[in-house]
Amino acid sequence: MASTQTLSRIYPLGSRVNELGHLELGGCDAIELAERFGTPAYIVAEDDLRARARAFVAAFEAAGQTDFEVVFASKAFPATAVMRLFAQEGLGCDVASAGELHLALRGGFSPRKLVLHGNARDDGEFQQALDAGVGLIAVDGFDDIDRLERLVAGRRERQAVLLRVTPGVRGETHEKISTGQADSKFGVSVAQAPAAIARLQSIDALELRGLHMHIGSNLFSIEPFRAAIAAISKLGDFPVYDIGGGLGVAYTAEQEPFAIEDFVAEVVSAAEELLGSGKRLMIEPGRALVANGGVTLYRVISVKDNVSRWVAVDGGMSDNLRPMLYGARYEAHVADRLIRSGSGGGSTRVHLVGKHCESGDVIIKDVLLDAPQVGDIVVVPVTGAYGHAMANNYNGVPRPPVIFAKDGEAHVVVRRETLDDLHARDV
Ligand code: LLP
Repeated sequence: MASTQTLSRIYPLGSRVNELGHLELGGCDAIELAERFGTPAYIVAEDDLRARARAFVAAFEAAGQTDFEVVFASKAFPATAVMRLFAQEGLGCDVASAGELHLALRGGFSPRKLVLHGNARDDGEFQQALDAGVGLIAVDGFDDIDRLERLVAGRRERQAVLLRVTPGVRGETHEKISTGQADSKFGVSVAQAPAAIARLQSIDALELRGLHMHIGSNLFSIEPFRAAIAAISKLGDFPVYDIGGGLGVAYTAEQEPFAIEDFVAEVVSAAEELLGSGKRLMIEPGRALVANGGVTLYRVISVKDNVSRWVAVDGGMSDNLRPMLYGARYEAHVADRLIRSGSGGGSTRVHLVGKHCESGDVIIKDVLLDAPQVGDIVVVPVTGAYGHAMANNYNGVPRPPVIFAKDGEAHVVVRRETLDDLHARDV
């Protein structure tokens, strides 16, 4: 994928340090964005998302795979504007609940481009998906088969489904986001799959197109994918294989994930070798499409010294739960001192913390920043995936807006929550 950036590659494509020494995202000065839209704010470089979508598609074409679908795992960034962008790019969309289904339709996806996932969908969610005419439903277990059999009885059109198989391969990642191991809440085991396949094939109103797997998230190695494809290859010969998401990204400059091109080439070659040619291949990237395209801007509210130096900003675990849930490591920079600090960050060792009422609200422990002062704008890159998605109102903090930036223009696509929104559901 072509890149024009002059900063650390973990920033959105096209980011740079401008003549004033300020971070520039999508052609917009980060300090001006913070002034105009307030903080905290999620800033998304629209071109970055489009470039990554195109890179996935181009990679399949370059690998000689003609029948494929790149499906955006919308859980990574379930905002209508993000869904609309990927719909425009021709991608499909993975929805894992009635809510994501609702958003994807609102975002302009054709129902045929949707794949419904989940390990615990009730009748209502299935009914909504059937009524909408979703392209595929991933069946997660025998209770799903019972439920679907009941709901599709008497329908004129057959519903296409995939069977989610847990291949018995652990993704090499944080245990909370590894899903392929045998002891998982997702899918049916390889041993149970033949019975599930036989049952699905016996239901006239369902059409079993193929198998689905998703071994985990933020993976840096291709080997588990290969092992998992090998495991499901023994279950029969199907026209469609969906190998899930999971491609890892660089959160810090020293991390070396697979490039999209290399990852897709490896998957295509493993599929060709283990599943045979002429298959329809689907993948479901979430993080790899949206993580690096987004950053969070915060304002420093307080700087305190005791045993450590504590730099507190106006957000925290309400806008980024990943450090607290997964011990995820991020970088940060003072947004108008990037020239002096370079991508290394500076020489003042601090704990970058949030505004929430618990000690666990640490965004980055021991980070080197360039002498942060009250009022400074601090940028935390790589918050595009699972930031907005997992945002919450802890301590009554309104959730940040999502701002799209492109060619020097910026606009709000999700507004900041207001204090009145906090009691909008009161009855
Ligand atoms: N397909 C399925 C069926 C999934 O369950 C997931 C993610 C994906 C695709 C997309 O995976 P990705 O390409 O984004 O790795 N909240 C966690 C991540 C949970 C991922 C859940 N499933 C985090 O912030 O790291």
